[in-house]
Amino acid sequence: MARKKITIVGAGNVGAHAAVWASIKELGDIVLIDVIEGVPQGKGLDLTEASPVEGFDSRITGTNDYNDTANSDVVIITAGIARKPGMSRSDLINTNTGIIKGVTEQIVKYSPNAIIIVVTNPLDVMVYVAWKASGFLQNRVIGMAGALDAARLKSFIAMELNVSVEDVHAMVIGGHADEMVPLPRYSTVAGIPITQLMGKERLDAIMERTKKAGGEIVSLLKTGSAFYAPSAAVIEMAEAIIRDKKRIIPCAAYCNGEYGVNGIFIGVPVKLGSNGVEEIIEIELNEEEKAQFDNSVSAIRKLIEDIKI
Ligand code: LAC
Repeated sequence: MARKKITIVGAGNVGAHAAVWASIKELGDIVLIDVIEGVPQGKGLDLTEASPVEGFDSRITGTNDYNDTANSDVVIITAGIARKPGMSRSDLINTNTGIIKGVTEQIVKYSPNAIIIVVTNPLDVMVYVAWKASGFLQNRVIGMAGALDAARLKSFIAMELNVSVEDVHAMVIGGHADEMVPLPRYSTVAGIPITQLMGKERLDAIMERTKKAGGEIVSLLKTGSAFYAPSAAVIEMAEAIIRDKKRIIPCAAYCNGEYGVNGIFIGVPVKLGSNGVEEIIEIELNEEEKAQFDNSVSAIRKLIEDIKI
């Protein structure tokens, strides 16, 4: 089997750490591309020099030239500006729309068969921009958010109950914003719904913390946004695609009537395999969950109305 090729656009904190996780998992050879000269080359070489120590066979190259990204199987877009304290994800919209559009056009030119995963915020809008700019079928453009938001919820559940993260599953749907919809009824420890393992007050506190978890990191770091968990989460998705694992992970996917939504990307449970989004799984939502989800849909629609593509 030919080695897979993964391009990571943006050699900042998220991009560089995605390269680390992907190479440790030996998902394939990695191209790190950025507009800044020297940085992707330096980080790529530095990571390659870690490979004899860790014993991984991924080759990591850094570049400023899209020629070098040709024929990638998976492209991860992290380029764009990140949040500073006091900024919401939607404050980034105009700058990042331009960046995502330009990047996607280059990617598609050199890797017409790639599957694109977008990480840049505001996520649900940026994945829409990338999809429009790509001209790709909707299964081949996906946004990373639910994987991160669910990872955060899983961490909080494990901390609260003092249990191994290995036994925790969690589901978070909706947009990657404060309107996201954590689903306690679909979150379990070894198959036991967490609604049976903790009281309502603690449960509510954890759901609230999950919704604000990105902001919690921004206010601690002060100079930027989270990167360990976001990069790990995007590589969880890339691995499911490259290894055709058929994993069920919440992702921002294009909805074509699912959940009563048409024509936008929003976080929903997705089956991820070598064809990208292979299925959107429609779970049953109660009235309250549905109302929260619909609220999240409206917030995304409002942002999309404001952008010029
Ligand atoms: C976060 C940013 C990456 O949630 O959206 O940390």
